[in-house]
Amino acid sequence: MAPKRVVVLLSGKGSNFSALIADARASCAAGIGQDRYEIVAAVSNRVEAGGLALAEQAGIAAHTISHKNFASREDFDAALRDLVAAFDPDLVVLAGFMRVLTPTFVDAFAGRMLNIHPSLLPAFPGLHTHAHAIAAGCKFAGCTVHFVTSVLDHGPIVAQACVPITVDDTESTLAAKVLIEEHRILPQAVRDFCAGRLVVAGLRVHVNSRL
Ligand code: GRF
Repeated sequence: MAPKRVVVLLSGKGSNFSALIADARASCAAGIGQDRYEIVAAVSNRVEAGGLALAEQAGIAAHTISHKNFASREDFDAALRDLVAAFDPDLVVLAGFMRVLTPTFVDAFAGRMLNIHPSLLPAFPGLHTHAHAIAAGCKFAGCTVHFVTSVLDHGPIVAQACVPITVDDTESTLAAKVLIEEHRILPQAVRDFCAGRLVVAGLRVHVNSRL
């Protein structure tokens, strides 16, 4: 079977994207594994996103589509949908993509789009998750990979990892600790999806480790 085709959407420095590039290569180097995947394109809504340079270095098609050039959220989402669909993806991964997506985009890739979010959902959807976790007195923080639905940072949870919050943690030290876990669970979730190991029932996802 051919490697699965993955399109990555990003807005920032692209460290999660970098982890996926390395893992995609490793998945294919392993030979005949069912979880092989290739990243066929990276798409950013910000021209200054560091992830675009990473794509070029890795020989991956890189595109920028700025939301600022569209009159409405729906118009942007329709153009983004058409751009992504042209790559015929098996899976779309939001790896630090900092735009709220409407059904115009989400419905086109329902059941085949994953997001990495830097909190233990359903706690702290949205922005500034680490500051919120510290302010709330949480003893643990973490990250979540979930299927994307039209509800922001909602959708069936595929994987989570947690880290302890220590008394001297700041927003940035906590973010750094959580990011290490993001780089671990996102590639694993992508492999599980590509191998057909994810069984979704309502909001619950079972990882069928026998496949
Ligand atoms: C990550 O923490 C991601 O979860 C969040 O934004 C950050 C992006 O980091 N949405 P990077 O661009 O992958 O380095």
